[in-house]
Amino acid sequence: MAKVLEKQIQTFKLTEDEKLLRKTIREVSEENFKEKAREIDKSHRFPRENFDLLASLGITGLTLPEEYGGGGMNYISYAIVIEEIARVCAATSVMLAVHLSLSSIPIYKFGSQFIRDKYVRKLAKGELMGAFCLSEPGNGSDAAAMLTRADDKGDHCILNGTKAWITNGSQADLYLVIAQTNPELKHKGVTAFIVEKNMSGVSFGKLEDKLGIRASATCQVILDNVQVPKENILGNVGDGFKIAMMTLDSGRIGIAAQGLGIAQASYDLASSYAKTREAFGKKIITFQALQFMLVEIATEIEAGRLLTYQAANMYDQGLKFTRQSAEAKLFCSELATKASNKAIQILGGYGYTTEYDAERFYRDAKITEIYEGTSEIHRIVIAQNIIKELGDRT
Ligand code: CAA
Repeated sequence: MAKVLEKQIQTFKLTEDEKLLRKTIREVSEENFKEKAREIDKSHRFPRENFDLLASLGITGLTLPEEYGGGGMNYISYAIVIEEIARVCAATSVMLAVHLSLSSIPIYKFGSQFIRDKYVRKLAKGELMGAFCLSEPGNGSDAAAMLTRADDKGDHCILNGTKAWITNGSQADLYLVIAQTNPELKHKGVTAFIVEKNMSGVSFGKLEDKLGIRASATCQVILDNVQVPKENILGNVGDGFKIAMMTLDSGRIGIAAQGLGIAQASYDLASSYAKTREAFGKKIITFQALQFMLVEIATEIEAGRLLTYQAANMYDQGLKFTRQSAEAKLFCSELATKASNKAIQILGGYGYTTEYDAERFYRDAKITEIYEGTSEIHRIVIAQNIIKELGDRT
């Protein structure tokens, strides 16, 4: 344990490569995503060109192995990239997060040689965009209660059902679909499939009209007698629930990083505004009431970043990190809402208008408390893990 902690402490001093990556991705994001973030939020336009730019820079395959065209980088690098993109455009950050951590990585990790050869290089290069289909109109938090069915027909399965709230929705090319293959076995009868967009019977619901991350394309994915070859099963029949849970464990680190990016953007905006705005003959940053708000957010951003890096570092080391990713996601998502709320408060009337980005940050922040597991689910996951750890000690 001491060794693990020692290693974590060393890793939290970012390496020169990680520092360079942060600087580069910050510059790329500010130059290419920042200015249009407000416009695409307003017009509800999916910025595919942002994905293509990230692909041209090797970011769509950042943590995939080099032999499959990826960048071979660690998960802390992934967290850095998501945070920096979210700092300017949360919708772009979730487009990448879902493509990489909820789709490309599990397709590589659990895929057969056939699957790896067929899909991973194209995902890494951004020639294919991935999505993850678990939730349904009637179930979200209770993931095992899915109704989507996959019936065994010999060399293929027939999938029927509707998946809901799918990030990258109709814009993706490849879907990691979790479906029930044996309802009597409940979660043990669940299997993961790779479904291609152009397979007959795949269609999409309307674009959801959301409070925030409005440039992210969210819709239902409808599967109507879709014939999926058995080679497209990820892992073994019956592994699907565990694959989904393990995928979400690492995916949640990305949402923690997204929350951090929104919190940092809120803090940056509020502190720079407070330095110039005057009231009662003084800059408002000289008032202790405002200083206390900013101090609290600045401290919690540091804490959230450490939680996020800790979870990412444990992932990189192959340790069990379910509790740590849940803690990072819970803390950073609630921080994003709190920080953006405070930013509006500090900007006052201006913060409540679309003249400034504070209101967009506030709207974007809320979803981080909901997707990839609500804050309530995370409190349950953390409690279950604490109880287990206490049990292991006796
Ligand atoms: N890793 C590996 N296995 C795990 C696991 C994990 N993190 N968590 C659970 N399991 C295993 C358990 O060990 C158990 O296995 P056995 O039967 O072999 O013992 C099995 O899974 C069932 O576990 P539980 O009894 O704990 O399962 P449950 O039905 O009570 O559900 C839950 C647990 C944590 C609440 C889970 O349903 C959950 O995470 N819900 C939230 C779902 C979610 O996050 N949805 C987000 C949708 S995706 C999204 O938002 C993407 C997007 O587009 C942005």
